[in-house]
Amino acid sequence: MDLLGQSLRWPIVGAPMAGGASTPDLAAAVSDAGGLGFLAGGYLSAEALDAQIAELRRLTDAPFGVNLFLPQRTEVDRAAVDAYVDSLRAEAETLGVETVARWDDDACPDKLEVLLSHPVPIVSFTFGCPSPETVRRLQRAGSRVVVTITTPSEAKLAVAAGADALSAQGIEAGGHQGTFDDDVDPDTGWGLLALLAALRTEVAIPVIAAGGIMTGSDVAAVMIAGAVAAQLGTALLRCPESGASDVHKSALVDPIFTGTAITRAFSGRRARGLVNDFMRRHRQAPSAYPQINNATRAIRRGSVARGDPHGTNLWAGQGFRLAQDRPAAEVVAAVGADFETRWSSGGR
Ligand SMILES: Cc1cc2nc3c(=O)[nH]c(=O)nc-3n(C[C@H](O)[C@H](O)[C@H](O)COP(=O)(O)O)c2cc1C
Repeated sequence: MDLLGQSLRWPIVGAPMAGGASTPDLAAAVSDAGGLGFLAGGYLSAEALDAQIAELRRLTDAPFGVNLFLPQRTEVDRAAVDAYVDSLRAEAETLGVETVARWDDDACPDKLEVLLSHPVPIVSFTFGCPSPETVRRLQRAGSRVVVTITTPSEAKLAVAAGADALSAQGIEAGGHQGTFDDDVDPDTGWGLLALLAALRTEVAIPVIAAGGIMTGSDVAAVMIAGAVAAQLGTALLRCPESGASDVHKSALVDPIFTGTAITRAFSGRRARGLVNDFMRRHRQAPSAYPQINNATRAIRRGSVARGDPHGTNLWAGQGFRLAQDRPAAEVVAAVGADFETRWSSGGR
């Protein structure tokens, strides 16, 4: 099949997963298996992203994509942020770490320059809509541009900005919600199938579906609903090529974790993860990304270093129980073959 000018064996995209899970090895394994692998540029310096792209190119000649976080607004409710950081004091003291709530632009402008000077086949954005000028510059450099959206109105803005395709992320998805603005109630959000149905009448560019997709039947379902491909995140988290921590990988199969929820507790932005003690203790985090993400970083790292799954973010989509500890090539091939069977039998 063709996806954004790239010939793929399967309509499967390996989701970018910032914070360590995405690695050049994982992206190469997905691309070599006939899907489209992605590198996650989020949280990396421009130099580190450049090095990961070089490593990925060394590992494979297959096409791939790179994802960037767009910078967030600077103004937040400072008093609410200070009160929240105060509420983290006990955890910080136990671990002997600092909590500093500061804004940063995730080095997005520098990473964009890396992508403009060394173009990659596909660039995707999340946490906002790139300007038409940014989209045009990337397209002129030879990249296709994908924008993550979570609502039909965001989709229309992305189309107006000139995006080549959308990554439509349902509320089932693991990790951060890619909403353009986090200023929404934590409980709101579009289910993937409802979102795909709405997009069918609203936009004409290709839509990649993301959120809770774990099996070939799921891929067939979103394709029947109008998507051109399915983006798998959680399904790849336990693969040996994934750089997710052992604490995270083990929690996905630990029976003490029975479900996921959307929280701002770790980052100040809505994200879905396994419900753990930290989430239960901090239900009222304000909307303040990346300030809260920076404030909790040392606590999260300290907790992982201690092997404690209750003090760190365990991002996971609603299908987490089906994530397998299997090489990524096998996951992609198994989901792809299962998809082909379902698709050729009309979804039965
Ligand atoms: C650990 C983790 C990290 C993620 N990081 C990113 C990211 O850096 N950029 C991005 O666009 N999406 C990110 N996502 C969201 C995925 O792109 C995708 O929307 C999601 O994984 C789909 O839902 P699923 O996890 O149920 O498959 C992340 C998801 C997870 C689970």
